[in-house]
Amino acid sequence: MARADSQFVCQSCGSVHAKWAGRCDDCGSWNTLTEEVSSAPLGTAAKAKKSTRRGKLELVSLDGEGAELPRHESGIAEFDRVCGGGIVPGSALLVGGDPGIGKSTLLLQAVANLAARGLSTIYLSGEEAVDQVRRRARRLGLANSPVALAAETGLENILDGLKSEKPQIAIIDSIQTLWTDQLAAAPGTVAQVRACAQELVRFAKKSGCAVVLVGHVTKDGQIAGPRVVEHMVDAVLYFEGERGHQFRILRAVKNRFGPTDEIGVFEMSEAGLQEVENPSALFLNDRDDTTPGAAVFAGMEGTRPVLTEIQALVAASPLGTPRRTVVGWDSGRLSMVLAVLEARCGLSFGGRDVYLNVAGGLKIGEPAADVAVAAAIISSALNAPLPKDAVVFGEMSLSGDIRAVGRSEARLKEAAKLGFSQALAPLAASEGNPPVTLRGLRGVADLVSTISAWQLED
Ligand code: TYD
Ligand code: MG
Repeated sequence: MARADSQFVCQSCGSVHAKWAGRCDDCGSWNTLTEEVSSAPLGTAAKAKKSTRRGKLELVSLDGEGAELPRHESGIAEFDRVCGGGIVPGSALLVGGDPGIGKSTLLLQAVANLAARGLSTIYLSGEEAVDQVRRRARRLGLANSPVALAAETGLENILDGLKSEKPQIAIIDSIQTLWTDQLAAAPGTVAQVRACAQELVRFAKKSGCAVVLVGHVTKDGQIAGPRVVEHMVDAVLYFEGERGHQFRILRAVKNRFGPTDEIGVFEMSEAGLQEVENPSALFLNDRDDTTPGAAVFAGMEGTRPVLTEIQALVAASPLGTPRRTVVGWDSGRLSMVLAVLEARCGLSFGGRDVYLNVAGGLKIGEPAADVAVAAAIISSALNAPLPKDAVVFGEMSLSGDIRAVGRSEARLKEAAKLGFSQALAPLAASEGNPPVTLRGLRGVADLVSTISAWQLED
């Protein structure tokens, strides 16, 4: 009889330890090791099963005829683009996000659209009862969609069902509720999640059915426990948003079949998620032209230009160590921008609090935002509002030079499209025939002198 072995698995990174410890050696998280007893510990089962099939390794050339199946397009353009042009048959997709952000809503809408286009689809809910899913479908106006629905959490039942029904797309909502009776570990533990995901991914590859797994994210941004799942699947999409804001962003962080920096923007409404085709308009509404400290950043999200407002407030600090608070940008980069402004332009931020906020709750990761952040800070520090029709972008070096960034043309075109008529941008952006008046910047000193011309008199 197999001996019940116990092992300690980190619920954050999935690494296996022989002994319990307060801190996981691999990822450094505290109190994440839990004991998992398994009659067939992972790894040994495979070893015990002697392979009887012996075949010769078949080698082929890179160039060959492969059957390129058409992608399953849902018709929700924001969703399809993030997938790289639709869901690839036989692929495994992980959609992660905070609980309540709208993953089930998004996937129900997507699967209903796919079903309406004649694909055979199954929606398996492990979290909600059939009635709850039906109620949501009714609310979304999708009650008549030919989607097959089931509430099931047993992996073996699910696989049997999928093998006999042979759908083209299966949604598993969520991977954390599944369990296999091969393991004694509780549902939701890393061992269970890993084993279930592995089986489902194998099923997808073998059958050609695209499997979409839903995964909840823990507070620190990891898909609870199973970062391991990220390695197994072909694409990982995150669905994010801020509480209190209606819009949601679908972001590809890994995609074996497409680009990874694409985003899809949605708005959560009474009737479910609506696509937002022009996100810049969403992030820029209600602008007031007289306030100093605001700069419109002409950024790129994947292949798409997105304009966002960056707001800064520089104020005298009552504290010994002034505050630096950042929302939506990297705080390390803010320190860098402040240091460059102090060293190269003679501005002083000692004894002054600096607050930085990216409007609308968007998170910006591009270095091209440096100059827009600097412009917002200078504008607040000098009490000099930027013109309402100006956009800003460019990368800043430690020496205070302003460097060219990619896709200037697309940024300027988007700005012109939204009614902006001037841009503060690196000199190189003036090549060609920019659609807006360009104030070319060589370094931060240029930026300061340009902005100080708009200083308010008081
Ligand atoms: P849900 O898809 O259940 O989130 P998840 O699967 O990521 O946990 O979305 C839940 C939230 O969405 C809930 O707070 C209600 C809201 N919602 C709407 O605002 N409008 C709608 O039409 C629907 C279906 C949900
Ligand atoms: Mg859900």
